[in-house]
Amino acid sequence: MRIEEHPILNFEKERKVIHFTFNNLPVEGYEGDTIASALHALGIKKFSESMNLKRPRGFYCAIGNCSSCNMIVDGVPNVRTCVTLLKEGMDVKVQSNKGELYVK
Ligand code: FES
Repeated sequence: MRIEEHPILNFEKERKVIHFTFNNLPVEGYEGDTIASALHALGIKKFSESMNLKRPRGFYCAIGNCSSCNMIVDGVPNVRTCVTLLKEGMDVKVQSNKGELYVK
């Protein structure tokens, strides 16, 4: 679900489409979306799984505080997708573990 009209906020009608992949499937969002907002607008609610019981996790605080939205982005685990802007060609995957230590 995406808010298209609002009595106070103004949304551009012609926004640039951003192409990315979610679990290897091609999907689209808009310039200015975060990864999480683009996925939520597509109806995708599961971003990660809890460590022990493998319960689904997704959008929760939406301000970068809770880590419920952590995903693997371009091979990097634990990316807080609610505060990470969507970019063309991103590879986004559901995270189901703690993630490996990322060393560049
Ligand atoms: S939803 Fe809480 S950090 Fe992203």
